[in-house]
Amino acid sequence: MGTKIKNMNRLKVTLSGITLANPIIPASGTYGFGDEFAELYDINCLGGISFKGTTREARYGNPLPRIAECGNYGMINAVGLQNPGVEHVIAHELPRLKSHYNGCIVANVSGFSVQDYVETCALLDKEPIDILEVNISCPNVHNGGMAFGTSPEAAAEVTAAVKAVTTKPVYMKLSPNVTDIVAIAKACEAAGADGLCLINTVFGMRIDIRRRRPVIANRYGGYSGSGIFPLALRMVNQVACATSLPIIGCGGVSSAEDVIEMMMAGATAVEIGAANLTNPMVAKEIIDRLPALMEELKIEKLTDIIGIVNHE
Ligand SMILES: Cc1cc2nc3c(=O)[nH]c(=O)nc-3n(C[C@H](O)[C@H](O)[C@H](O)COP(=O)(O)O)c2cc1C
Repeated sequence: MGTKIKNMNRLKVTLSGITLANPIIPASGTYGFGDEFAELYDINCLGGISFKGTTREARYGNPLPRIAECGNYGMINAVGLQNPGVEHVIAHELPRLKSHYNGCIVANVSGFSVQDYVETCALLDKEPIDILEVNISCPNVHNGGMAFGTSPEAAAEVTAAVKAVTTKPVYMKLSPNVTDIVAIAKACEAAGADGLCLINTVFGMRIDIRRRRPVIANRYGGYSGSGIFPLALRMVNQVACATSLPIIGCGGVSSAEDVIEMMMAGATAVEIGAANLTNPMVAKEIIDRLPALMEELKIEKLTDIIGIVNHE
């Protein structure tokens, strides 16, 4: 076997029977449908792509400004699920993505009622997507999903309702803005979820001290980027210890070292969000760096380290 093929096999991971060439997935909302990135590099190097959150109807999002920078430790966004609606996504975005990308397509879905989630997921069920990532954790729109992700009962209700209308693996995307993320994760597992994705952004705020006003028009927003990495890692580890579902780890990942750490905490795949916005090459750079880092850390296959800190 050539060294290149051997290296490629060492990076493979499997989510609910779907094999990804490597665990790297750009996170929803930070990669669009990949078009801008495809101009910079061959996006077929990615294990998967989680596309911008779609909803039943088109949404224009929140008033501007929607972004507050937080130095080199991250950013706050309050985009508010701006998207063209699921029917447009199915008619235009998905065929275009599918025409130039062969990896795992993760369809990120949001809703404002259980019925919204059900209708959007039912429409996507007939489409060439691999995983439904159900966002019950958007902090940026009133009643925009986070209401479902902060109560175990509501999280279970959305999970069961979506499972009933789809044959695709259903991954529930959890919010860190809760007292006990394990309770929410377990409720999703009991309701039939196939996997979990965590975390979404952390509810945050910045103030413009010269103008004496919140930076973000909506006042608060979702904080993401390297500053949230330890929090995300802790939550992934807690959930990995308490459930037997595969986990897509997300939150503050910006290097190959972070990916290894996230997998050691219990993630099977790893999403990269805000880092794409500061360095559009980051996902490819991480994939390219992984084999050398694995060599250095004496990791034969990435699957060997998933949740390794939990096996005592
Ligand atoms: C500008 C922006 C838009 C986002 N939009 C979505 C979205 O539509 N759906 C979703 O589930 N998460 C969305 N997120 C959250 C990210 O997918 C990710 O969960 C979060 O940013 C934490 O990862 P990070 O620290 O690597 O950015 C968005 C994040 C950012 C920064």
